[in-house]
Amino acid sequence: MKEEIRRILEKSSRGGADTLMPVLQEIQAIEGYLSPEIISEVSKYMGIAENRIYSIASFYDQFSFVPRGRKHIRVCSGTACHVNGSEAVVQEINKQLGIKAGQKTKDGWFSLEVVQCMGACSLGPVVEINGKHYDHINPEKIRNIIVALREEGEEI
Ligand code: FES
Repeated sequence: MKEEIRRILEKSSRGGADTLMPVLQEIQAIEGYLSPEIISEVSKYMGIAENRIYSIASFYDQFSFVPRGRKHIRVCSGTACHVNGSEAVVQEINKQLGIKAGQKTKDGWFSLEVVQCMGACSLGPVVEINGKHYDHINPEKIRNIIVALREEGEEI
C-alpha cells in the first residue's frame, strides 16, 4: 500500500464512519479509482463492512471501481437501455477500443464502465463520457464519438 494511502487510513481510523466520504474522496483523487484491495483496507482500518462501503460509494458518480482513462465512457445497461440496444453499443466499443468493461486502453486515453440506470430511460441507450450525456446512442453514433475523441487525443 502506498505511504500516502496508509497515512489517510491511519488518520481516518480515529474519525469513525463520519470520515468515510472524505477518505474515499482522498483515495480516489490519488488512485483514480477504488480498487477491491483499497476497499478491503478501508474496511479493516475503519471497521466498516466492505458491502456497506460499496453501497455508499456506488451511490455517487464521483467514485469509480475501475481504473479510469482520460475519457471515461459509461454505458447504461439498465432495462430500458438494454431493450433499446445498449449491448450493441458496448460491443462496438469493445471492437473499436479493444477493451471490455472495467478496462482502460494501453495509452490510458479511454476506459469503459457498464452501469445501471442513469435516470434518463426515455432517451436510451444512454452513454456518459466525462460527465457529458449522449442519448439515443447506437453503434454508428458511438463509433463517430470515439473517432472525434481520438482526434482530441492526437491534438494534445
Ligand atoms: S435504463 Fe438506461 S437510463 Fe434508465
